[in-house]
Amino acid sequence: MQKRILTGVKPTGAPHIGNYLGAIRPALALAKKHDSFLFIADLHALTITPKPAELKEQVYGVAATWLALGVDPKQTVFYRQSDVPEITNLAWLLSCVLPIGMLERAHSFKDAQGKNVEREDIKHGLYAYPVLMAADILAFDIDVVPVGKDQKQHLEITQEAARKFNLIYGDGCLKVPEAMIDEQVMTIPGTDGRKMSKSYGNTIELFGDDKELVKTVKKGIKTDSTEYGLPLKDEGDTVFEIYRLIADPTRIEAMRRRYQTGRKDPDGPNDPGNYFGWGDAKGALADLLLEHLGPARAEYRRLMADRGHLDQLLAEGSDRARAVAHPILERCLKAVGLRS
Ligand code: ADP
Ligand code: TRP
Repeated sequence: MQKRILTGVKPTGAPHIGNYLGAIRPALALAKKHDSFLFIADLHALTITPKPAELKEQVYGVAATWLALGVDPKQTVFYRQSDVPEITNLAWLLSCVLPIGMLERAHSFKDAQGKNVEREDIKHGLYAYPVLMAADILAFDIDVVPVGKDQKQHLEITQEAARKFNLIYGDGCLKVPEAMIDEQVMTIPGTDGRKMSKSYGNTIELFGDDKELVKTVKKGIKTDSTEYGLPLKDEGDTVFEIYRLIADPTRIEAMRRRYQTGRKDPDGPNDPGNYFGWGDAKGALADLLLEHLGPARAEYRRLMADRGHLDQLLAEGSDRARAVAHPILERCLKAVGLRS
């Protein structure tokens, strides 16, 4: 039988190429090979009290992003966390067995304390975040949770919650999941060469309009001052790094030779008409992005223009999710003595 995997994504701002190459594309590849669950962690998003209208928009945005990039909602169970009350119900049962020491040691809580945030401003939701995350996973008898290194501690808390619960209420109540930690997650560089991140303002957005994308690539990406006609350094160059993660091997090799020779046609003449400089490299990347992402960009716009359809897909997903979570919650309610 296929292993059951689960991925949770927080609805945050406009998705960028770093999110796509570093998180979305690998998750989609895994989803194809497993019995997969994918959900929008909208309750988790509340811990930073976003503006209601923005949150609503971002939930649609993240749903449309994943669907446009290839989630198959017939195969993957794709839902919104807040549509599955079994999750929050289970979270309470877990709260009642998890020691507070574990939560006090959680990075997100410690970070908030370390930043000298007024105690009044640290919300219980942030403190309890790992409990809700444990419930996200344990409510579905998940076998494996693929996550980045930053989520390792949350997975340990999840495992601990399941073990504690089983110890008190009997083996087999909750399935202890495995973490699949990708130690060498690729870090996609942004326009300034640092990690691409919304917080650095150095992103290339996935779903901005065409003109904006071309402008960000051509004007935004910083390159060195190699003279036109001389070889370009591909190592550590944002343009080449992104190009190589998207193009097929033949095109990558052709691009590498252009970089190495500084010529459009590497075997062609030493003539300014045949020079290959940063402007050309950026033009090639912009073309590649438009070509590779074109269908997803069109699909994203189509989905965002039809909220009713998104609502319907999410409603179907939550029905499927609840059908799985309901008996698991009932099993736990019975184990603790709240059901006969
Ligand atoms: P941001 O740093 O822009 O706020 P998020 O923290 O919302 O991005 O990231 C969402 C997902 O995308 C995470 O799984 C994260 O690991 C991945 N991700 C974000 N930026 C990059 C990047 N530059 N390279 C690789 N993966 C990234
Ligand atoms: N905490 C995760 C993040 O910050 C999102 C998340 C919530 C999650 N619940 C999850 C991830 C369950 C995997 C499994 O990105």
